[in-house]
Amino acid sequence: MKKISLALALWLSGTTLSFAEESDTRQELLLTEAQRHHVLSEMRALLDGTQQILSALADEDMTRVAASAEALGLNMAHKAEDHLHHILPKEFMHLGMSLHEDFDQIAVDAKNKAAPKQILHQLSAAMGKCAACHNAYQIRIDNQDKARLDEVAQHGAHVMPFDLEQTLHVFSKSEQGGVQQVIVKDKTNTGQIELIRAHLAKIADEFKRGDYSNPAKIHGDNMPGLAALRNARPEQLQIDYTELADGAQITYTSDQPSLIHALHQWFDAQLSDHARHAITGHQHHLMHDK
Ligand code: HEC
Repeated sequence: MKKISLALALWLSGTTLSFAEESDTRQELLLTEAQRHHVLSEMRALLDGTQQILSALADEDMTRVAASAEALGLNMAHKAEDHLHHILPKEFMHLGMSLHEDFDQIAVDAKNKAAPKQILHQLSAAMGKCAACHNAYQIRIDNQDKARLDEVAQHGAHVMPFDLEQTLHVFSKSEQGGVQQVIVKDKTNTGQIELIRAHLAKIADEFKRGDYSNPAKIHGDNMPGLAALRNARPEQLQIDYTELADGAQITYTSDQPSLIHALHQWFDAQLSDHARHAITGHQHHLMHDK
């Protein structure tokens, strides 16, 4: 017992020393608000999951160990959106992937009824990767991006009648084009729902005529994909407005690969510009009933 408290005391004094350091010299990952939120949510899930594994190990319940570990395996990484893969450094991604693989291995061994002590060793080795990564990297918000978001919100206020804080843009790409939804965060917010519907119906009509001046006012005239969309003939790009219970949506459909590509580029540009006011829809659009 004494030995443990001595170790704890040493560890605490070590921590105090590192607290005293003047500045954070870990490599900076410059992310948007939304990206930071995405990474940190995954982190909290990792912490929850490791706690569950430890609790199951203490009960020597290997079925629960396996289930908790599996939830942190490569499947977790695959479920996460992959747009961050291009933004985060390669070494960072490798470290993360190898940690997910460790959890898959723990799940396999727990299913095969490995001794709890062996699993503890594996978990300890895996958690070395948590520590290694935390020692190497810190997240910083890209301030240029923040300024851009404010600018977009400001320009948007003149063009979009609804409130960006009370609503959410959801952009979902599909093989035939994509769907742009604007929905309220609070389903009882009927005032905002009306504003969303009126605005989306109006711009859908404008888009059908090749008039994209509204989004261009917010995001600039050089948005990726915009030129191709403007020049699309009505029979090449179908644009449909539909009401949703919690807002409205515009569906874009085309059989021309170049137009579909342009539309996806245009979606990406709006997503990155709207940052925390917008999300990609592949997992979210199912939430909304028509
Ligand atoms: C590949 C890199 C990497 C790995 C591996 C990693 N993390 Fe993180 N984690 C980070 C970064 C970067 C941050 C943000 C640190 C900062 O900005 O100071 C973070 C933050 C966190 C946070 C804070 C979350 C919040 O809401 O503020 C927790 C908790 C966390 N990690 C838990 C874990 C656990 C548990 C593991 C291992 C099972 C782990 N992480 C593995 C990179 C990693």
